Amino acid sequence: MTRLLLKVQDLSVAYFIHKQEIVALKDVSFEIERGEILGIIGESGSGKTTLAKAIIRSIKPPGKITKGKILYEGEDILSVDIKRFKREYLWKKISYVPQASQNSLNGVMRIIDHFYDTAISHGITDRNTIYDKAKEAVKMVSLDERVLSSYPHELSGGMKQRVLIALSLLLDPELIILDEPTSALDVATQKSILDLVMKINKELGTTIILITHDIGVANYIAKKMLVLYAGQVMEFGNTEEIMNNPLHPYTQGLINSVPSIYKDVSKLKPISEGEIPLKGCPFHTRCSYVSEICKMEEPGLYTANTRLVRCFLYDKARKNIS
Ligand SMILES: Nc1ncnc2c1ncn2[C@@H]1O[C@H](COP(=O)(O)OP(=O)(O)O)[C@@H](O)[C@H]1O
Ligand SMILES: [Mg+2]
Repeated sequence: MTRLLLKVQDLSVAYFIHKQEIVALKDVSFEIERGEILGIIGESGSGKTTLAKAIIRSIKPPGKITKGKILYEGEDILSVDIKRFKREYLWKKISYVPQASQNSLNGVMRIIDHFYDTAISHGITDRNTIYDKAKEAVKMVSLDERVLSSYPHELSGGMKQRVLIALSLLLDPELIILDEPTSALDVATQKSILDLVMKINKELGTTIILITHDIGVANYIAKKMLVLYAGQVMEFGNTEEIMNNPLHPYTQGLINSVPSIYKDVSKLKPISEGEIPLKGCPFHTRCSYVSEICKMEEPGLYTANTRLVRCFLYDKARKNIS
């Protein structure tokens, strides 16, 4: 069996508003092997949630997938009948823990009722079976069985996030996509949630996509990183290699602007402000290496050793010419 689990190819998504097309993702390509943790990093508005929603087929109008393929073990899930996708893929193969999802728990339902709802919608109707699965799942996330009879308001933010992760585990998915799971939490709770995600990855072998705006979070947890800017992949590669030697000027900026106990904060360089331009490289208005070509043309995704980088600095063909 191949180790490749998910392969996203040239994925583009746009939102059509007042006859205008807002491109949220453009030609996004990357892949994940079984058992890996991938961190998807980008500022607010870079297209992270859109990417997660495309993978679980939940882009709703005015949004539309305009191009590309999403291959799950070789099957293009974008062309699977939506009913079959919901039955065979959602929760069973791929689960999604949405952004700010602590608020998505229904306040008038006990925690266990959320488990019943999810299981019943997938045809598992025996309540004892569901209860046993729920018990196992909350144990996995280090919560006491008693939370199952609680109401959401009785739980802390960190506990609610654990409950949602437990819920995502209910039907034993192969891949879990977590959208900014730590953003609303204090630093100590953030770390405990990340440690929990790593435990799930290690003990259950679950493949993880973790979305974050914080490169420090991705560095802590992910083996590989995908850096998004304005809906495009800027850099993709191994976390360690990227952190030691970021190639894209945007990635360099992200790493330099992250406060770290290892770094002298006085040397932090925030990335300079800039609008996303209509033409050329989307990052050129903020880039300190900008040259004429960057203002005129869009760079491709070039290979640099084991890395993919969308920057003319790594266009070997061009370097040979000049
Ligand atoms: N439902 C929507 N309608 C219109 N535009 C949207 C919608 N959702 C997202 N967008 C636009 O798509 C872009 C990417 O958004 P999003 O995927 O939410 O980014 P992120 O999760 O990285 O903050 C943004 O420019 C945003 O304004
Ligand atoms: Mg988002």
